[in-house]
Amino acid sequence: MKLVDTHCHLDNEKFDLDRLEVIERIKDKLEFCVNIGYDLKSSKRSLELAKKYDFIYAVVGVHPIDIAEYSDELEKELETIAKDSKVVAIGEIGLDYHWMTEPKEVQQDRFRKQLELAKRVNKPVVIHTRDAMEDTVNILKEYPEIGGVIHCYPGSLETAKVLVDRFYLGIGGTLTFKNAKKTVEVVKEIPLDRIVIETDCPYLTPEPFRGKRNEPIYVEHVAQKIAEIKEISVEEVAKATTENAKKLYKIG
Ligand code: NI
Repeated sequence: MKLVDTHCHLDNEKFDLDRLEVIERIKDKLEFCVNIGYDLKSSKRSLELAKKYDFIYAVVGVHPIDIAEYSDELEKELETIAKDSKVVAIGEIGLDYHWMTEPKEVQQDRFRKQLELAKRVNKPVVIHTRDAMEDTVNILKEYPEIGGVIHCYPGSLETAKVLVDRFYLGIGGTLTFKNAKKTVEVVKEIPLDRIVIETDCPYLTPEPFRGKRNEPIYVEHVAQKIAEIKEISVEEVAKATTENAKKLYKIG
């Protein structure tokens, strides 16, 4: 069974010189990949890519770092593209108290607005959370009908156990880093049926390519590491996580 990259940014300028080649490599090696928007422009680019290639799907939304651009007009436009059948979720949305480009209250308000939007279009969400786990979990509790994925899961095992009721945990290249003790524990203890694999490329490149640009086919290095931690075969990891990705994004 082929792997899935549940979270990539192929519209990023770092792919401007060789995007076609990078996409060619996905075609043979991966089941599909999901391109994630972070503002209105990238959300539109994401949908463009998804319309062009049948193995690429789009997620649209405004990232907490880019949330200053959020307005009623933007929301209307976002909702229109969100209804497209190639758009499989709303994201990446959430809270980022590390960069704090906008105050907490503003981030929370616009996080809720996009959760409402997800409810209206009946699609799951892709959550970004950094140094803000408690508030993220509390806000998600206000929307018990919404599921999705916590991208690049940064939390504790304790919180993971609560979240996996409704959310998949996105595991990426950071799992292969030397200081990944917490994530290794999460992967070890959380059942494989709640885990999906991602790259977040061009960022967070797994070992042995850390420091270079990341790309979707490197999901195999994350899968290998999960197999190692869970003491199972890479094939088992691929089969389960690809099934999970299809369920998460309601594909196929
Ligand atoms: Ni991302």
